Amino acid sequence: MSRGYGVQFHPEVSHTRQGSQVLANFLYGICGMPGDWKPGSIVDREIARIHAAVGPGAGGGEVVLGLSGGVDSSVAAVLLQRAIGDRLHCIFVDNGLLRLGEREAVERTFREHFHMDLAVVDASERFLASLAGVTDPETKRKRIGKEFVDVFQKEAQRFARAKFLAQGTLYPDVIESVSARGPSQTIKSHHNVGGLPERMKLKLVEPLRELFKDEVRAIGRHLGLDGTIVDRQPFPGPGLAVRIVGEVTKERLDILRHADHIVTTEIEKAGAHKGLWQYFAALLPVKSVGVMGDARTYESCCALRIVESQDGMTADWAYLDRELLARISNRIINEVRGFNRVVLDVSSKPPATIEWE
Ligand code: XMP
Repeated sequence: MSRGYGVQFHPEVSHTRQGSQVLANFLYGICGMPGDWKPGSIVDREIARIHAAVGPGAGGGEVVLGLSGGVDSSVAAVLLQRAIGDRLHCIFVDNGLLRLGEREAVERTFREHFHMDLAVVDASERFLASLAGVTDPETKRKRIGKEFVDVFQKEAQRFARAKFLAQGTLYPDVIESVSARGPSQTIKSHHNVGGLPERMKLKLVEPLRELFKDEVRAIGRHLGLDGTIVDRQPFPGPGLAVRIVGEVTKERLDILRHADHIVTTEIEKAGAHKGLWQYFAALLPVKSVGVMGDARTYESCCALRIVESQDGMTADWAYLDRELLARISNRIINEVRGFNRVVLDVSSKPPATIEWE
């Protein structure tokens, strides 16, 4: 008589102590799985699948991909390049809501290092115009999503032969949208480019759709992406717009970008980023009084959001060394005109969310 075994709780979630050990015992000990998953074998499998979908040789189809510079789209890009070479065309939309130096870093990596066909579209004025006067977080997301689709679609017309659109969808995104109880309740509309494939009448290619984030990172490393990309902290599609509470203006973006750069460089310089999920600055529309030299100031407030998490679904605020916090705070107040106060966000998720909007 054959025996059946099962695991009846959630060993994969972060609060299950020894969960990984339970899974390892079950898979390797009880089920006798060989545990021979290697990034290289997954890459080979995905390349074969890409070839089957778009055609292998020079006569095969062309593919466009929206590159954001985040882990998922970056790994999808290098994987596709490995599979189809210069039949891949990448489009990077600079929406003006990015962090300091982000666009330049993407150009360096993908154009200069990987020699990809990369179109960079500066659409910042257009995004800013569509956000003028908007303060509601969901309206911001919707307007940014719509602008993105419009800009991307226009740019992609240059590649008239492309019949495929590649996206860096991961397995958790797939589960979320097909779960037995229907898509999980929308707390924030995260899917930044929804509707793009239908509107463009392109077939979707999703080479990462069976993979989890840690697997995607391993594949990225295997394909030669460096740590600044594969280990980078998540950054939301709507960018700094959801870290500016209230209206998004060029001036506020510049202030926040500068402060955020101080937060990330100081934390990384101190090596304190290991184990953190995200660490960033948010701009609060609260003005308060300060003194600078002999003068009175009346400026905005900068919130530090520094969290630990396994998957972004739940999160804890992280405690940083006092000296490091003091250095960040002093530098922001002394160097960033527009902030005269820095506060530390000590809220866990739930009930707070990681982003401020
Ligand atoms: P929240 O704020 O919902 O964030 O606790 C959980 C994780 O998701 C990221 N996030 C987004 N990512 N588009 C994205 O691509 C979005 O609109 C968006 N909103 C939040 C957030 O940075 C965190 O890692």
